[in-house]
This record gives sequence, structure tokens and C-alpha cells, in this order.
Amino acid sequence: MKFDINIIREVYSSFDKRVDKARKILNRPMTYAEKILYAHLHDNINIQSYQRGNDYVNFSPDRVAMQDATAQMALLQFMIAGKDQVAVPSSVHCDHLIRADINADADLKAALSTNKEVYDFLQTVSDKYGIGFWKPGAGIIHQVVLENYAFPGGMMVGTDSHTPNAGGLGMIAIGVGGADAVDVMTGIPWELKMPKLIGVKLTGKLNGWTSPKDVILRLAGILTVKGGTNAIIEYFGEGTSSLSATGKATICNMGAEVGATTSLFPYDSEMESYLKATGRSEVAEAAKKIADYLKADKEVYTVPEKYYDRIIEIDLSTLEPYINGPFTPDAAQPISEFAKIVKEKGYPRKMEVGLIGSCTNSSYQDMSRAASIARQAIKKGLKVKAEFIVNPGSEQIRYTTERDGIIDDFKAIGGTIMTNACGPCIGQWKRHTDDPEKRNSILTSFNRNFAKRADGNPNTHAFIASPEIVTALTIAGDLCFNPLTDSLINENGEAVLLEEPQGESLPIKGFEVENAGYLPPAGNGKNISIHIDPTSQRLQILTPFLPLSINDFSDMPLLLKVMGKCTTDHISMAGPWLRFRGHLENISENMLMGAINSFNNKTNSVLNQENGNYDTVSAVAKAYKNKGISTIVVAEENYGEGSSREHAALEPRFLNVKVILAKSFARIHETNLKKQGMLALTFANKNDYDKIKEDDRFTIKGLENFAPGKNLLIIIKHSNGTKETIEAIHTYNDLQIEWFKAGSALNYLSKLKK
Ligand code: F3S
Repeated sequence: MKFDINIIREVYSSFDKRVDKARKILNRPMTYAEKILYAHLHDNINIQSYQRGNDYVNFSPDRVAMQDATAQMALLQFMIAGKDQVAVPSSVHCDHLIRADINADADLKAALSTNKEVYDFLQTVSDKYGIGFWKPGAGIIHQVVLENYAFPGGMMVGTDSHTPNAGGLGMIAIGVGGADAVDVMTGIPWELKMPKLIGVKLTGKLNGWTSPKDVILRLAGILTVKGGTNAIIEYFGEGTSSLSATGKATICNMGAEVGATTSLFPYDSEMESYLKATGRSEVAEAAKKIADYLKADKEVYTVPEKYYDRIIEIDLSTLEPYINGPFTPDAAQPISEFAKIVKEKGYPRKMEVGLIGSCTNSSYQDMSRAASIARQAIKKGLKVKAEFIVNPGSEQIRYTTERDGIIDDFKAIGGTIMTNACGPCIGQWKRHTDDPEKRNSILTSFNRNFAKRADGNPNTHAFIASPEIVTALTIAGDLCFNPLTDSLINENGEAVLLEEPQGESLPIKGFEVENAGYLPPAGNGKNISIHIDPTSQRLQILTPFLPLSINDFSDMPLLLKVMGKCTTDHISMAGPWLRFRGHLENISENMLMGAINSFNNKTNSVLNQENGNYDTVSAVAKAYKNKGISTIVVAEENYGEGSSREHAALEPRFLNVKVILAKSFARIHETNLKKQGMLALTFANKNDYDKIKEDDRFTIKGLENFAPGKNLLIIIKHSNGTKETIEAIHTYNDLQIEWFKAGSALNYLSKLKK
């Protein structure tokens, strides 16, 4: 059995008592998110009332999930932690390294050979330490977790930013870096700042072309990419019960796009049906017994403004389908206005490729609704104008949809079925295009649309919509087509309308799968040895970073002053670089190559102050490192937005960057920087960003007395000899300061063991 019912029963056996005890201490009704958080406190004896948005708290999550691109570094770190087995159930999912090129079979075959060394490593480590292993082709981490592991009231961490997908089954699921996953796998407390709470009240009922995806696309427009930072989004209201569990998961998945720590729905009959349909009736039965605890207290729903830090209301009955983009997921446009915007802004109107599936939208409901549109194209004699690509989320979904004729519906309109894997969603897409220089548009049902994310091409304008809208616009081949109002001309020259999509949230004949692709771990891994070839280009044993000294922070040249958006894709690009995720030295060659240098508006071209030449960011950093010189990177808002990839923190650490000074940070990335012993600072006065010149040198003052809440000073030395002092804020607590002093959280852990 993949999920362990005994562990879930154990969580439930004390859930009510823990919540009752916490409620007494808080002396007020509790939200659902608070119930799960307080029920998972590491120290459940000395419970206190923690201040949201302020207090760091230690938790004991129930499980860990890792995808292959981040698992390599997480497991390389776990291997030096000196444990025999993982402390909580954990799983590895091989989904990111498979390239979408020809079709599922050919691409899987190619991946098995190209990535053999990495897959063998992940499988052997999983076997040795008691980790469940999902083979390449088994599916995408979040879909597989939803189908097998997520449970209401549970808490998990995952080394992927879309881990919150499991909130669709009422679980607190948080995206983290590998070092955080190591904390949980080694059984030490896992620390998180008590999140704030955003309550989203859903009223009414979805209808017509509108789908769960549109709820989150609309919310992204309201909250923007930063609006959910350090907050949990908790949904409530009568509208929640009309959404399927998988629809809820889509909404929670994309909470990552507004920076939310996680997103969550209260337990309901839709979740119960999904648990039963996916072979987990025992979990549904167990959850039923504590159902009153798997939602907020009644009083919270009566006066929500008293218990959430912010309330947003969305009426599902009047909600329109949305299309968000390009280049950022919060550029939200209702479909009724989209054509006008496309024309006004001059976006390429021709739609070149429609892509559906991914971890965000490949449920049975998504697939069956999209297929109902595809069938109409055939029936109504419509010629499909754009290329169509489908990435099923799991083998279970693929097998079931193939059995039910859905896959054939997609193929009938020219659809290519790719592997059950991330593919184009993470830049693993060998796009077949005649002119890569041409500005072009694609529409996906994925979650992210940053520049170059899908195909590495800066000329591609990527937009996001629901699978049914993507399918309709693929048929039209026109971004300005609104299927709710516009007709299309068929092969007989007749004007035809597409009818509203129809589909089932769960397969009538049940889910089915022949070979799900799961390998349980060996019972006893003691005799399993792990070998990493020292000449390997893909894997490299980690060497602990050296502890830092205060001298490292003086007279540091500026390496790069980043202008504008700087996501983890800009810091450590995916696509072809994914192959080096287990080799820190090799992957560091891509450091910050996508970030724009504010002094010359170029990417990957920075000044080496030692010789006056311009070179790539990694080359200049390496040159400084070879001379024993530390450097600093300066950035704007929400630095490190996007994924949980800790390479974005490991690479600068490896290349001797000591400080990141930004206007603000994305949550996961800020923690990743702290875990790797970097100094993550923000400007006390954001206008100070403008004072920084290309050939400046920096000294950090105050590190001898580095303490929580105490600002640091930065002396900026300009090349004309003048100096300016600015103030910098940090959010390090006592423990994080210990990590910093030790050189990394892992170093600190080893020090404790000694
Ligand atoms: Fe894969 Fe979903 Fe991330 S498809 S790349 S896990 S956004």
C-alpha cells in the first residue's frame, strides 16, 4: 500500500484533543488552517498563542514529497545527515527531467537513457532510506500526491512550490527547499513563521464556461504575485461545496502564484467522494469521525473579518473565464475584455500552440470538459488551427482517460499526448517552430508564464487559462476568439458556435490503472551502498560550506544590481540546466544568467571591477572567488519569486556571493538563503536602491552583534572615494543566526550532533 492508514489514524487520534487544547489557550474560535497548524506543533505540551506574521514556530509535518530535479540536492544533503531511515513517510517523483519532443513513448525512452545515472541514484537512495519511488512516467508529483497521499487535516512539505495542490484535499502542504525537507526527514523540528490568514469567501455556483481555474486566475489579479506572501489562503462559503476536490486542488496549486505559503479548503463531501474514488475509503471513514474539526469553528464563518487578516469575496455565479498573461500570472483579464486588450497591447493574435494538462489541470474533470470541446470541433466540421499538446498528470489519469475515449478525442483534433510529466511546464519542451525570432503566442492551462519558461524563447507570449478555454482557442487559432459569444466558420463555410463544456468530476466507471509506476522501498536499506562517480557531470557529492567570518563582509564589490523581476528562473534557469541539478559546480554556471543588469539593460553581462571587463555573472563571480573576494547582489521587489529550487541559493553561496540586498524577498527563497548561510537583507529605505553604482564596494556593519530585530548598517564606498551609510533590515531569528554563523543550517545540525 502506498499510503499508510495507520499514520493517518495516529494523526486523527489526537487531532481533536490538540485543537481543543489550543482553542483554550487562544481563547477564541479557530480557523481551519490554525487547527491543522496547532495540531502539528512540534512541542504540543507547552502550547502558546503565536502571533501571525511574526513568531517563528516549530512544526512536525506528517510527510515529505520531492520531485526529481530538487530531490537530488535534498537527498545529497540528507546523505550527510547520518540517518539510517527517513523519520516520516517520504516519496520521490520522477517528473521534471522528461523532455517533451515527439510523444509519450519516444520521449520516455529518451529520458530513461539520458537521465539513467540520476534515476539510478534517486532509486538507490530511496531504497536505502525507506522512501517511496515513483518511476519516470508515473506522473507529476502533485497529481500523484493528491491521488495517493494527501489527507484532510494533514500537514506535509514538498520540494516544489506547487506542493499546496494538496490543499484540495484539506491538507496544509507547503513548498520548501531541500534543506527544509531534510529537517523533516531527519525528524528535527521544522520551522516556519506563523502565517497570516487570508479568508476567501466563495458564494454562488460555477456555471457554463467558467471553471475552478478562473477562481484563482481572478484572485491572482486581486492579490498580485506578492499579495499572498507569508499568508495561508483559506477558502470558505457555500461556493466551496460546489467545487470538486480536484478543482479545489487547481485553486490551491496556483496559490503559489500569489506567493501564498499554502492554500486550503475545508473538508466536505466532494473530498470524501474523491478519497473513495481513489481507493482511500478508509481515510474517508477516519476523516468523517473528526469532520467537525476539519473546518473552521462556526463563529469564524459568522464573522470572518474578526478571524482572518484579510477577506476577499468572489461570486462564482457571475465569475467569467479569465486569461492571464503574458509574462506574469497576475495579469488577469476577463475573456469579455481580452480581445480588446490583445489588440490594444499588440500581443501576437495568432495562437500557435495550446497546451493542457500539467500538475495544475489534469484531473478527470479537466480532461473530460476539454474533450467535450474537442468532440464538437469534429462534429461541427471545424478545422483546428493551432498545435495541441497534452501532458497528463499521472498514469492513472492517462489510463482512465484513454479507456474512456478522452485521449482519442484529443488525438482526433491533432493533439499530441506527451509523457505523464511536467515537460513544457518546466521548459522541457523541444518546441518545433519554423522561426524562433518571431513574436508568438501560446496558451496553456499551466500555472506559470514567466518569459522563456515553457520554450526558452523570449519572443513567446505565454497566457494561462482553463483547459476548456485553451482547447476552444486552439481550435480557433486566435487569441481574440471568445467562445462564449463568437462563432467560427467551419469547412462548409457555416458559422458555428461551440457549446458549453460538459464533463464529470469523477469517472463513472471508476479510476483504473495497470501499472502506476510505484516502487516501494526495501525493508532494510543498511547494505545498500550509493556510488557517485567522481567524474560524473550530473551528480557531485556535497562538500559542507566553510563557516563565515566577519572579514568576509567587508569591501565586497557589487556583482550585479538586478533591475525588475527576478524569479528563481532568472537566478537558476530550468530547461536545459535541469540536467545539472545534482551537480552544484556545473549548475552554478547558470547563476543569475536571466537577471537584467540595471547598468546596461543586458542579461548575463556584468562588470569585473578587478580588470574592468564584462563577462557572464558566473564567470565574474568565479574570478572574484578565486581571489578570495566576496561579493554582493542587489535586487528589487519579491526577489526569488517562483519556485522552491534551492539551487538559487546554493549557487551564489558556492560562488562566494555573501549578501543579497533586495527591496523584498519571496518567502521560500528567503528561507533557502538563510539555510545556506547567506545574508538576506532588505533596504530599510527602498529608495537607497538608486544610490548603488556599478563599481561600488560594500561593508556590512553590526554582524559582531547580529541579533533578531536589530538592523544592520551597510557602508557603500563609491569609486570616487565618497562613502554613504544605509540601513538594512533582516528577519533572522536566534536559530537562523546560528545557521549563519555555522555557515549553513546543515553545518549547524552536524555541530549539534558532535
Ligand atoms: Fe511540474 Fe507542475 Fe512544476 S507540471 S514543473 S510540478 S508547475
